[in-house]
Amino acid sequence: MVRYRIAGGSPLGGTAFVQGAKNAALPMIAASLLAERGQTVLHNVPPIDDVRAAVELARAVGASVEFHEPERTVVVDASGLSNPVLPAPIASRFRGSVLFLPPLLARLGEAVLEGIGGCRIGSRNLDFHYRGFVRLGAEVTEEGETIRVRRHRRLRGAAMYLDTPSHTGTENLMMAAALAEGPSVIENAAQEPEVADVARFLAAMGARIAGVGTGFIHVEGVERLRAVEYTIIPDRIDAGVLAMAVAATGGDAGLVNARLEHLGVALRKLEQMGVELSQDGAVVRVRRTGRLRPINVLTAPYPGFATDLQAPMTTLATQAEGTSYLRETIFDGRFAIVGELARLGADIEVDGDAIVTHGPSKLGAGEVVAHDLRTGSALVLAGLVAEGTVEVSAGEMIERGHAELAGRLRSLGASVERITVP
Ligand code: EPU
Repeated sequence: MVRYRIAGGSPLGGTAFVQGAKNAALPMIAASLLAERGQTVLHNVPPIDDVRAAVELARAVGASVEFHEPERTVVVDASGLSNPVLPAPIASRFRGSVLFLPPLLARLGEAVLEGIGGCRIGSRNLDFHYRGFVRLGAEVTEEGETIRVRRHRRLRGAAMYLDTPSHTGTENLMMAAALAEGPSVIENAAQEPEVADVARFLAAMGARIAGVGTGFIHVEGVERLRAVEYTIIPDRIDAGVLAMAVAATGGDAGLVNARLEHLGVALRKLEQMGVELSQDGAVVRVRRTGRLRPINVLTAPYPGFATDLQAPMTTLATQAEGTSYLRETIFDGRFAIVGELARLGADIEVDGDAIVTHGPSKLGAGEVVAHDLRTGSALVLAGLVAEGTVEVSAGEMIERGHAELAGRLRSLGASVERITVP
C-alpha cells in the first residue's frame, strides 16, 4: 500500500516537468497494434500504472512490447498479434482496455474484452462505441462482463455519431474506420487535444483523417497502416494539477513542457481566481501574489473546463475568499473529494450536481483517502496548504495517472513523501 505524507505551508518555486499525456499514450499503445509489421516507437510516454497495464495487455494479445521507463519510450512490434482475448486480470485494471477492441477486430476479425476497469466516478457506458462498431458492420454481443466484437468481412465505412462527444468513443471509432473500406464520418466527435494527437498519430501511420479538432471527423479507410515513431503531447491535466499546486501555495514556478493552449477554459478560470499564467517557450510560468477569488465552474467537453481538473480545482476553491460553485456535468458520481476535504476542515457541500465551497477554509492535519486518481491529486494539493501533516492513503490511485508526483513537487520545494506501507 502506498501513502503520501505532505507537510504543507511553503509557497512552491523553481521548475518541474510535466509528463506526457496519459489519455493519448493509452490509445496510441492500442493503435500501434494496427500495424502488421515494423516497430512503433512512442516517446514521452508517462511511467504510470495505467500505461503499465496497457503494455501488459498488448503483450497478452501477442505483441512484443518494451517500456523503457527512464527514457519514457515504448517500442511495439505487433507482427505476432495472435490472441483476440483481452484477459480480465489485466483488462479490468483500467479503462483504456476498451481501446484495444478496434485493433484486434481489424487484425484478427474478433476481439473479446473480458472486463473493464477505471476510476469509479459514476456510470460509464460504452453504448456509443458499440453502436459505431455495428454501423461499420461488426457484431457486438455482451455476456455478463464480457464483450465480444466480431466481423465476418472487412468493415465498411459508415456515418456514425456520438450522443455526447465521448473521448475514448471518438478514438475507438477513428481506429475502426481507419482500416474500413470507404469513407466514414464521426459526428459530435470529441475535440480534446489527446484525441487530436491520436488522430495525428494515426495519420502518420498512413490513415486518412480530416476534421481533427472539430466535431466532425472524416476518415477514408486504407488497406494497411505502418509502424512509425511519434512523440506524445504533454499531459494537460498533470500540468493543471501542478499549476493549481503553485497557485494554492501562493508560489511562483515554471512548468516545463506545458502548453497553456491545451488548458481550455481551466486557464481562464485560474486567471479569474487571480492566478497569473504565461507561456515562455516550452515553459509555463504560474504565479500568485494576491488572494484567491471565488469561482463558478461548469465541467464540459474540451475546450470546456476538464472534468479531470474538477477535484483539484475544488481544493483550490476552498482557499478562495467567498463561495465557489463547481458543477459536474460529465460524470454522475465524481464527488468523492467533498467528504475528504470536509475531514480536513473545509466548509464544503454537495448541492445537486454542484460542489459548493465557502472559503477560505483553514485545512488541518488528517488522514484522507484517494478514492480515485483525481481525488488523490486534489488531496495532495490540500496537504500543501494544510497546517499540519496530511496523509493520503490508497496512493496507488494517484500513480495510475501521475508519474513521480511526490518527487516533482519536492523539486518545487514542497515536503511530500511517498511511503510504502506493508
Ligand atoms: N458515455 C456514454 N456512452 C458511451 C460513452 C460515454 O453514455 O458510449 C458517457 C459516459 O457515461 C460519461 C460521458 O459520456 O458520462 C463522458 O465519457 P467519455 O466516454 O468521454 O469518457 P471516457 O472516454 O470513458 C476519458 C478519459 C477520462 C476522462 C473522460 C472525459 C481515458 C482513458 N479516460 O474517459 O479520464 O475523465 O474521457 O474527458 O481517456 C482520468 O484520466 O482520470 C479519467 C477518468
